[in-house]
Amino acid sequence: MRVVALVSGQGSNLVALLEAIDGGRCAAEVVLVAADRPARAIELAAGRGIATATVPLRKGDDRAAWNHRLADAVAAARPELVVLAGFMRVLAPSFVRRFPRRIVNVHPALLPSFPGANGAADALAAGVRITGCTVHLVDEGVDTGPILAQAAVPVSQADDVMRLHKRIQRTEHRLLPAVVHAVATGALDLDGPTWRDEGALSDMPLYAPLLVR
Ligand code: GAR
Repeated sequence: MRVVALVSGQGSNLVALLEAIDGGRCAAEVVLVAADRPARAIELAAGRGIATATVPLRKGDDRAAWNHRLADAVAAARPELVVLAGFMRVLAPSFVRRFPRRIVNVHPALLPSFPGANGAADALAAGVRITGCTVHLVDEGVDTGPILAQAAVPVSQADDVMRLHKRIQRTEHRLLPAVVHAVATGALDLDGPTWRDEGALSDMPLYAPLLVR
């Protein structure tokens, strides 16, 4: 399955996806990594010989034109799935409509709680004792699309935002490749979205309870 990854940051989720692919745990191929700014994730992708594109959005730029440029770059790579792996821009409806039900995002909180750019910090500030991560389909809202998979992460009293976010990311690094693999194998049908095989995540310790019926 041809995957285009959109990134803005450090690229730890991208690396987790690439390692899962290399390790035979994810039946996908990342054909392009695109960013909205100069990003470490782009350097990591280029270092692995993956095609990259940076389509910067600067202050004062025309957002509609930027969305169009980015969508053109993504479409040229003929993706079967677009993965937002730490992509920190909100995509315009015009972008989302070019890849209907084929864009997934990883978010560092249990949506619909704590949407937006600071999922880990907002959960910590709210004092929840359990948070986690979500992989969801991207629709025209902000972090509002249908939820595909979630995993829980406990909050420790010793946590600060960085420590909590790092622990959430370690869980994201398992959940995101597993969901991409599920899409590639048909265990997850994005047109529902419907899990055709709910056991597809069951080799992840987090999903063991799904085996108990
Ligand atoms: C990830 O934790 C991801 O969930 C978050 O950005 C981080 C990127 O890390 N995304 C969002 O907050 C989107 N609203 P990475 O660049 O190391 O993968």
